[in-house]
Amino acid sequence: MSKLFQALTLGDLHLKNRIVMAPMTRNRASAEGVPDALMAEYYGQRGDAGLIVAEGTWPSATGQAYCRQPGIATPAQIKGWQVVTDAVHAKGGLIVLQIMHGGRIGSHHIKATGTETVAPSALLAAGQVVTDSAGMQPYDMPRALETQEVKAIVQEHAQAARNARLAGFDGVELHCTSGYLPMQFLCSGTNLRTDEYGGSTTQRARFAIECLSEMGQAIGSGRVGLRVNPGNTFNDTSDENSAKTHIELMQQAAKLNLAYLHVMRAPVPEIDAFEMAQMHFGDRLILNDGFTPENSEEALTQYANSALSYARHFIGNPDLVQRLQHGYPLTRFDRKTLYTPGAAGYTSYASHTP
Ligand SMILES: Cc1cc2nc3c(=O)[nH]c(=O)nc-3n(C[C@H](O)[C@H](O)[C@H](O)COP(=O)(O)O)c2cc1C
Repeated sequence: MSKLFQALTLGDLHLKNRIVMAPMTRNRASAEGVPDALMAEYYGQRGDAGLIVAEGTWPSATGQAYCRQPGIATPAQIKGWQVVTDAVHAKGGLIVLQIMHGGRIGSHHIKATGTETVAPSALLAAGQVVTDSAGMQPYDMPRALETQEVKAIVQEHAQAARNARLAGFDGVELHCTSGYLPMQFLCSGTNLRTDEYGGSTTQRARFAIECLSEMGQAIGSGRVGLRVNPGNTFNDTSDENSAKTHIELMQQAAKLNLAYLHVMRAPVPEIDAFEMAQMHFGDRLILNDGFTPENSEEALTQYANSALSYARHFIGNPDLVQRLQHGYPLTRFDRKTLYTPGAAGYTSYASHTP
């Protein structure tokens, strides 16, 4: 039997197959970040996956990065997510929530009135963000967090993990890529701090490690995963030695008895992120980026006790698991409806077999 369809245990998560739906921001929640029945339908349609990692979701209002991005901070958000997790569980699936604090990737045109944009250091991110109220806008100039405030945000991550469990999620994943808050702490270009959260690689990794550790204390470390992407420069991120920094992060994360490490291929040829993860974290990997029906099996042969995640193929193929199993053709997705409200380009893709 193909390895893709073999069961796999990652910490406390028992996957029925090794096909993971990667997290994808789709901006379908309400303006207040509350998930609704449409989101439940979308995730429910994809419940055959061995594991769904639901889209990057803010743990507290300062962490919101995008319009109509869901949160896991308010009672209404918890209630909204419960409908989503019920829909996935009804299909016999598993679903974890990706916790994503945007840090300096934020705009007051998006967040609730009076909500600040904060970061490890007061450094403006280059680039612009789409807002519903004022079109394209530059990011806010962030305020540098006080040390005690950093500790409070760590606790917000623990509370987000508790809230996720209340909402029926099977676990959580910390988003530590793409230039959001944990990566802003991790990288030398965005972290100029002189307290215990800045300086050496160990100190820059401290924020992510403390979040993971506290999330593990809150809900059990076997239900907590970490997502990394060594070499990533998205959202104006830079690091003096991304490989070294990520090795440090992986080695420390390996001591926490986490469910898994979700590792994306490095965008630069000099870093082999999968090898790095195997060497410094161990097995229990979810490998990502560019997997196709053609190259999946080989990766699972090379990396034992691991799974593969697919993002873009899950957009147009709600029944991706069946399509991979039977060799059915894959449907391409429409870029124009990636982030637009409503069902079009979201729940409207049909299954190959009715
Ligand atoms: C529409 C879209 C939204 C995404 N949102 C997220 C996100 O919220 N969190 C995250 O970690 N990655 C996000 N990603 C990255 C994907 O999870 C994945 O790493 C990337 O698409 C490569 O995998 P693929 O080749 O299977 O598409 C997003 C990708 C797409 C296409």
